[in-house]
Amino acid sequence: MTIQTICNCPEEWIRAIPLDDGVPDRVTISRAAINDGAIYAGTPLLSNPDSSYFRSSMQKLTIGLCLFIAALPLFPKVSAEDGSAAARGFSYLRTHQYLPPDFDDDVFASLWTVWPEPDRSAAEAANAGERRRRTFSWYGLMPSPDDPEGTGPALGYVPDGQGNWAMNCLACHGGKVAGKVIPGLPNSHTALQTLTEDVRAVKLAQGKALSHLDFGSMQMPLNTTNGTTNSVIFGIALGAFRNPDMTVDLSRKVPKLIHHDMDAPPFWNVKKKASLYADGFSPKTARPLMQFILLPRVTPRQLELWEPEFGDILAWIESVESPRYPFEVDRPLATRGEGVFIENCSRCHGTYGQQGKYEQQTIPLDEIRTDSVRLRALSPEHRNWMKRGWLSRFGEDHVETDPAGYIAPPLDGIWASAPYFHNGSVPTLWHVMHSDSRPAVWKRTEDGYDRQRIGLEVEEFGQIPSTITVSAYRRRYFDTRLPGKSSSGHNFPDKLDETEKRSVLEYLKTL
Ligand code: HEC
Ligand code: HEC
Repeated sequence: MTIQTICNCPEEWIRAIPLDDGVPDRVTISRAAINDGAIYAGTPLLSNPDSSYFRSSMQKLTIGLCLFIAALPLFPKVSAEDGSAAARGFSYLRTHQYLPPDFDDDVFASLWTVWPEPDRSAAEAANAGERRRRTFSWYGLMPSPDDPEGTGPALGYVPDGQGNWAMNCLACHGGKVAGKVIPGLPNSHTALQTLTEDVRAVKLAQGKALSHLDFGSMQMPLNTTNGTTNSVIFGIALGAFRNPDMTVDLSRKVPKLIHHDMDAPPFWNVKKKASLYADGFSPKTARPLMQFILLPRVTPRQLELWEPEFGDILAWIESVESPRYPFEVDRPLATRGEGVFIENCSRCHGTYGQQGKYEQQTIPLDEIRTDSVRLRALSPEHRNWMKRGWLSRFGEDHVETDPAGYIAPPLDGIWASAPYFHNGSVPTLWHVMHSDSRPAVWKRTEDGYDRQRIGLEVEEFGQIPSTITVSAYRRRYFDTRLPGKSSSGHNFPDKLDETEKRSVLEYLKTL
C-alpha cells in the first residue's frame, strides 16, 4: 500500500510526492508500520540520512509541503492583550498560530483507538473526561493552567476557532513538576513522535489530509525518548532550503543531519544568559527564535512582519521567574552547602541570592566530558549560514561559529528542571553529584517527585526490558547507551565527600 492509496490527500499534493523516480518502496508505508511506529526501521531514507535519496526526498517533500500549506487558509488575525511587551508575548504564544494546524478535535478524541492493549481497552471503558486525561498523559501534553480540566487544547497548542490545534513554542517549553504545570519549564513528558504517529494513523483512518509534522516525522525522528526532542535538527532541516537572506531555494544542498534529542532549558535562566542554546552559539535576539517556524510557506516578508511579535515573546521569556522549592529545606545544612558550592561550583555556575553574580562561560568539551553529539551536530556550515544571514542581522549580532563546548548554565530553580544536562540524561541532582551511580536506563513516573535525590522519581534498569517491544512504550525509557544520550561527564562533584555532597544537594533546593 502506498501513501498515495492510503492518504486521501489533495491531488496536487499527492503529485508532488516522489513515487515514480526509480527508487521503489521508499514511500511505501503500511498502516501496521505506522501503528507500531516501526516506520523508519525499514526505510532507506531514515537509515541513511546522508544518501542522495534522502536529499532528493527532502526537496520533493518540501515542494509537497509548500503546495499543501499554500492551500491552507491564512492565519487568523489575533489581537494581543494590552500591557507590557512580556504580557503581549505570552498572549501571542497562547493565541497566535505561526504554523499550520497539526490535527483537529475529532482526531484528538480518537487517538486512543490506535493505542496498544491493554491501554486501548482501558480508554474505551473510561468516561469521556477520564479518556481525555489519559490522552494528555499518553502524549505528555499539559493542561493549560487556565483550563485545568483540559477541555480545550493543551498548553502549547493554539485553537484556530475551527476545531484545529496548531503547535506553538509551549508544546516543548511548558512542562510540569510534581504535577504542577509551569509555562517556561521544559516539557519533560512530551511524546511528540508517538503523538505524530498516532495522529497520522487516525487521519488516515478518517480520510483526512496529513500535515507538516505527519510528513516531517517520516523523514526524521521527532524524538526517540519522551521528554526530549530532536529540535536542533528540525531547525537545521527547516533552514536547509533557505538562503541566508531567508528566500526559499529548494535546490540548496541539505547538510548532513546528525539526529539527537535535547532537553530544552528552562526559560527563567534566559535573562541571565549572554547568548542562547547549550553551546551559547546564537545571539539572544528575536530572529533566532523564529527558526522553528521556517516552513517554506513563510515568506521573508512575513518573517519581518512577525519579528516584533517574537521580540515580545523574548520579553516574556526573559520575564519568567524560577519557581520556589515547595517542600521542606534543612536551612542549616543548606547554609553549609552554600560554602561548599562557592568553593567548588561557583567558578562556573556563579553565585546566588541578593548579591548573586553569573557570568556565562563555555567549558571545553575535554573538560566537561558530557555527551559530544550536540556540539558536533550543529556544523560549522550551519553556524556560518546563520552568521551570514538574516537570523543574525547579517553578522551584526554575534554568532559563535566554533564553540569549544557547553555553557555552564545558571542553576536557578534547578530543583524543578530535571532531568539534567543538555540531553536530559540524568534524572536527579543526586545522580549529577554521584557520577558513578547514574543509571544506564531509567523510566520516570508521571508526577512523582524524588525529595531525597531531588528530581524525577524513576525506576532504574540495566537495559530496556526485553518484553517492551512497542515503540510508544520503549520511548518511555531513557537509554543512556544510545547515541547522543550518554550521561557521562561533569565529574567535578566527585572530589566532595558524602557529607559535602549532601549539603550541596540541600543548598541546590534553595536556588
Ligand atoms: C519541539 C520542541 C521545541 C519547540 C516547539 C520549541 N523549542 Fe525552543 N528549544 C527546544 C530545545 C530542545 C532547546 C535546546 C536547544 C539547544 O540548546 O541546543 C530549545 C531552546 C530554546 C531557547 C534557548 C534557551 C536557552 O536557555 O538557551 C529559546 C529562547 C527557545 N528555545 C525559544 C523557543 C521559542 C520562542 C519557540 C517557538 C517559536 C520554541 N523555542 C519552540 C525545543 C523546542
Ligand atoms: C568547570 C566548570 C564547572 C564546574 C566546576 C561545575 N560545573 Fe556544573 N555544569 C557545567 C557545565 C558546562 C554544565 C552543562 C553540561 C551539559 O549540559 O552537558 C553543567 C551542568 C550542571 C548541572 C545541570 C544543569 C542543567 O540545567 O541540566 C548541575 C545541577 C550542575 N552542573 C551542578 C554543579 C555542581 C553542584 C557543581 C559543584 C560541585 C558543579 N556543577 C561544578 C560546568 C561546571
